[in-house]
Amino acid sequence: MRIVLVGPPGAGKGTQAAYLAKNLSIPHISTGDLFRANISQGTDLGKQAKAYMDAGDLVPDEVTIGMAEDRLDQADAVEGFLLDGFPRNVNQARALDGYLERNAIRLDGVLDLEVPESEVVRRIAGRRTCRNNSAHTFHVESRKPKTDGVCDECGGELYQRSDDSEQTVRNRIEVYHRETEPIIEFYKQQGLVVTISALGPVHEVTQRAMDALRRDQA
Ligand code: AP5
Ligand code: MG
Repeated sequence: MRIVLVGPPGAGKGTQAAYLAKNLSIPHISTGDLFRANISQGTDLGKQAKAYMDAGDLVPDEVTIGMAEDRLDQADAVEGFLLDGFPRNVNQARALDGYLERNAIRLDGVLDLEVPESEVVRRIAGRRTCRNNSAHTFHVESRKPKTDGVCDECGGELYQRSDDSEQTVRNRIEVYHRETEPIIEFYKQQGLVVTISALGPVHEVTQRAMDALRRDQA
């Protein structure tokens, strides 16, 4: 399956993507995680992205689209993928359409995670992320690690993302409404959007997502 995950910052895209990718045997591709890996490795791409991410703005399309396409070209994504955080504006959505067309493939669905803004703020404020792998995500109240400050998955140190400060989160939410929400309409016109509520326990949201994707394919 080829799926795009959409939702505001803190909706639980990364959390759900980990389970959905496992259930569907497809790679989880998060452009945010790719940028963070580049930043921690000190690459040129990471250096270009850092200031935009710290401000909560989008990294320019010239950098982002190439990085996403390079990742999609890798062997593990040939049979399917779960995109988390890409596309993030209509220009990126058009670029992805072009990529799919060139490769004679198409998307199976766009899963839209709905969460009220108050819950988004609560989730981000309590989020702790693993330094080794930003796909390993915890929450101080609703998803506690077994040992404080230590990642259950790999033993890495948990920290608070530098773009999780209150001011940056406010900007990320604004950017989401302005730049990213329009892609939902773009994909509605292609009949691809499945919207679910992302409220409730993590495993219930995963079940809801799996049911919605199955219904959509039936
Ligand atoms: P990115 O890393 O994609 O951040 P985001 O979209 O802001 O989303 P988050 O990762 O903050 O939230 P999430 O939905 O993954 O939630 P999570 O699962 O962690 O992007 C970061 C930056 O990179 C962007 O601002 C931009 O600068 C740049 N960038 C990335 N892609 C780009 C692109 N395509 N173009 C340009 N720039 C780009 O969950 C949040 C918390 O809630 C966690 O603590 C979790 O444990 C908890 N939680 C999850 N589910 C539940 C639940 N059901 N109940 C209770 N708690 C829950
Ligand atoms: Mg994420």
